Amino acid sequence: MKRRTMLRGLVGVAALGSAGTAIHRISGAGAGASGLSVTVLLDEPIGTIRPAIYSQFAEHIGGVIYDGIWVGADSKVPNIGGFRKALVEHVKRLGKVVVRWPGGCFADRYHWRDGIGPVASRPRRFGRWREVTEPNTFGTHEFIRFCRLCDVEPYLAANVGTGSPEEYQQWVEYCNAPAGSTTLADERAANGEREPLGIRYWGVGNESWGCGGKFTPEDYCREYRKFTEWLPVYGVQLYLIAAGPNSNDLDWTRRFFTKWADGARAPIRGWAPHYYCGTTGHALKFTTDQWYEQLYKANQMETLIRDQWAVLGLFDPAHNIKLVVDEWGSWHPAGTEINPAHLFEQMGTLRDALAAALTLDTFNRHADKVDMANIAQLVNNLHSLFLADGDRFVATPNFHVFEMYRPHHGARSVRIDVHAPEVAFGPGKWPKRIFRIAGSASRTGQRELTLTLVHTHATDPAEVSILLRGGSAREVRRTVLTHKELNAHNTFEQPETVVPSSTPTDLRGPELHCVLAPASVTRLDVTLE
Ligand code: AHR
Repeated sequence: MKRRTMLRGLVGVAALGSAGTAIHRISGAGAGASGLSVTVLLDEPIGTIRPAIYSQFAEHIGGVIYDGIWVGADSKVPNIGGFRKALVEHVKRLGKVVVRWPGGCFADRYHWRDGIGPVASRPRRFGRWREVTEPNTFGTHEFIRFCRLCDVEPYLAANVGTGSPEEYQQWVEYCNAPAGSTTLADERAANGEREPLGIRYWGVGNESWGCGGKFTPEDYCREYRKFTEWLPVYGVQLYLIAAGPNSNDLDWTRRFFTKWADGARAPIRGWAPHYYCGTTGHALKFTTDQWYEQLYKANQMETLIRDQWAVLGLFDPAHNIKLVVDEWGSWHPAGTEINPAHLFEQMGTLRDALAAALTLDTFNRHADKVDMANIAQLVNNLHSLFLADGDRFVATPNFHVFEMYRPHHGARSVRIDVHAPEVAFGPGKWPKRIFRIAGSASRTGQRELTLTLVHTHATDPAEVSILLRGGSAREVRRTVLTHKELNAHNTFEQPETVVPSSTPTDLRGPELHCVLAPASVTRLDVTLE
């Protein structure tokens, strides 16, 4: 798709709000001649960015587990004990993230016992998604082995839809009971894991307003209480996650927590809204207006975080409960599957990479509120980082964004203040507007600063002044992900169409003049004086 010039006009103030967020204005103190500036407030910390914000989700659906992750030890596809080798090697590059399993909707009809013991005697079941048979070849032990291979942390989602509190509590016991302490611990040992698995992230149901049981918030809260009472702890600080609303449904959150607060408050560490920004057009075919509209929709994560946090604060003023956005991403119409058996598989373009980057920047800016977020899904599904089919494997542009953002992991998020005219888009007399530049910044130690910026303009570069308030740059390295085609994507045949490129720069001092390419994600690695 060819780009066409799109900037229909400049608009005025669009302040997004209080400390910790980008504010987009037409101009202001410190803005350069172009009127575009990003001020990094080096001494205004927000919070530590948990690597778990960069987490993943892997469900038994379509080609995620079978073909994506698991190819089998006898496969011709290069594998490590049955796990796709190329995937393992790439997931390792994502850092110390978390992977959520086994669903999704699948989790709410899954019995963990189906996936343990000798593979040949595991039951075959109706697979929840389409009328496929779930062979249960991949179960708890396989998932844990995958996590170990990739050096990531497991997050298990329990079945509230068709399961029982007893079943859930026994899964926790099976995983975490000390060696030899109970019959379930012995069974685990017989299945190859003598020592406890030490799993701390536990979800209680999934989308309980929908496929997870179609509960009212009050009914789900009653279930949540039953599921989390008498959970065996075994010295592990369990991090319990309650299923949150569909997108930013504030009524669901208010009603759940009103019920939660009407008696004994069940333990909750994470509140899990799901936000899919959907689609505009099609995965590969979209107009420039649809480019902007998709990014606009992705950017609603900002509002969701602020609103959900505000409601949580009414019931939990100390904010012990954090946000866990354990499903998010684009969701395009069917038609770009590389394998028709891979339900919800879609190609990811530069547009999806920008949607991912601006969402990750949003999480970074709210590092004090968001403990974890899991893009949906890791491989062969919606907003995937990877596509795989038989012996073919490719990293999508999303993967490169996740890798580019790795220096933010564990760093201290600091405020930025963006002054930039918005971009107007859409037909009609009253076009919509989207930020032109947004981003996030974080510090590691005293000297290292990482600044990531998303530039949404489809056609024009942006000259930006980057003002380091409270510091000065000694050395700056720049990494850019962009392409001249908005729908550029990586394929098995051309896997490096959209990849980042890094260059040293001669930028120095307290004010850095930088040109952002159109439709780009930029990372600046700044060593401070
Ligand atoms: O990610 C695909 C599905 O989307 C998940 O199973 C469900 O939780 C959501 O609706």
